[in-house]
Amino acid sequence: MQRTVLITGGSGYVGSVTAWLLVQYNYRVIILDIKKPCHSFGYSIIGNAGDVRLVASLCQEYSVNAIIHCAASIEVGQSVKDPQLFYDNNVVVLLNLLQAMKATGVKNIIFSSSAAVYGAASSASLSEEDPCRPVNPYGKTKLVGEYMLQDYAHAYHMRYIILRYFNVAGALPEHGLGECHDPETHIIPLILRAAQERKPFPIFGAQYQTKDGSCVRDYIHVLDIAYAHLKALEHLEQGSPSDTFNIGSGRGISVKELVHIIEENCHLSIPTSIRAGRMGDPAYLVADISKAANILGWQPRYSDINYIIRSAFAYSGLPARQASADRSAFLKE
Ligand code: UFG
Repeated sequence: MQRTVLITGGSGYVGSVTAWLLVQYNYRVIILDIKKPCHSFGYSIIGNAGDVRLVASLCQEYSVNAIIHCAASIEVGQSVKDPQLFYDNNVVVLLNLLQAMKATGVKNIIFSSSAAVYGAASSASLSEEDPCRPVNPYGKTKLVGEYMLQDYAHAYHMRYIILRYFNVAGALPEHGLGECHDPETHIIPLILRAAQERKPFPIFGAQYQTKDGSCVRDYIHVLDIAYAHLKALEHLEQGSPSDTFNIGSGRGISVKELVHIIEENCHLSIPTSIRAGRMGDPAYLVADISKAANILGWQPRYSDINYIIRSAFAYSGLPARQASADRSAFLKE
C-alpha cells in the first residue's frame, strides 16, 4: 500500500529534494509550507506547520503515516540577534505539530536537527554520544526540540528519528532543485555570488584553533540528506526504535580550503578578505557518521566535495567553463 508522508517545509531546500526523492520511491507526499513550492512533487498545502487544526485535518484527510519536519528558522547569526523568532518557529511550532500528531494518532516523525546542538569546538569528529552544549540560540532550539520528541515518544508511544544535519550543500541542477535562501547566508552560494560580482569574499574569522585558522565544516550533499530521510522512514516502518543520527560526510573542510576548491572546480579567481568571526560560530563541526552506517545502512554517496561544488555551480546559473556536474563521475559506490 502506498504510504503517505507529510513534509513540513517541503518548499525549502532540503524539503524539496526529499519530496522529489520520496516520490521516486512511490510515497504519496503532502507538502506543508508557508511558501508555494517551485516544484511539483507531491500535493502542496500553504500553511504553518504550527497550525494545530490544519495539521490535524491534513493528517486525517490524507491518512498520514509519518511526518518529516523540516520547517524551521536555520540561520545561526540571525538566531543570536532574534532568538524569539527561533523559539517561536523551532520550538512552539514543533510543540503544536506534536499536539496535532497526538490528537490524530500519527506515531512517526523524522526531525531535522542540526550539528549546531553540539556546539563543541574540539578537533575530533563528533559522535551522537558527545555532549550537547550549543553555543547559539539556533542550536538550543534544536536541542529543545530533541528533548520534546524524546518525552512525547516515551509518554505517547510515538517514534522519532532525529537527523543531525551537518552543512547541507550542493544541488540537483537537472531537476531545478538547489540552495536559494532569501537572504542567502550560506557559504557556497555566497562564494559563487562574490565571484560573479567580482567582489572579495569575506572569510569570517582566521584566528580559530583549526588547521589554517578558518572555521572547519562538514559539507554533505543535499541528495545524501534526502536519502537519510528515506532510510529513516524505512527504519520506522520496520518497527525499529527511535534514535538519533549524525548526517554528514565525515570530512572537515576549512573556509579557506573551500574557496580554493571552488576556484579549481569552477575555474574562477576568488579574492578574499579576512573579517571578524561571526557571532555564534563554532570553530569545528565534523561528523562521526558510523552510527548511521551501522544502524540505518546509510552512507554518503554524493558528497565528494568536487561534486558538491560542481552541482552548486551548475545550479547557480553562472556560465560554466568546462566544469561538469555529471554525478556518475563522482559517485561513491
Ligand atoms: N562563512 C564565511 N563567510 C560568509 C559566510 C559564511 O566565512 O560570507 C563561514 C561561516 O563563518 C562558517 C562557514 O562559512 O564558518 C559555514 O557557514 P554557513 O553560514 O554556510 O553555515 P553554518 O555552519 O553557519 O550553519 C549551517 C546551517 C545550520 C547548521 C550548521 C551545521 O545554516 O543550520 O550548518 O553545521 F546548524
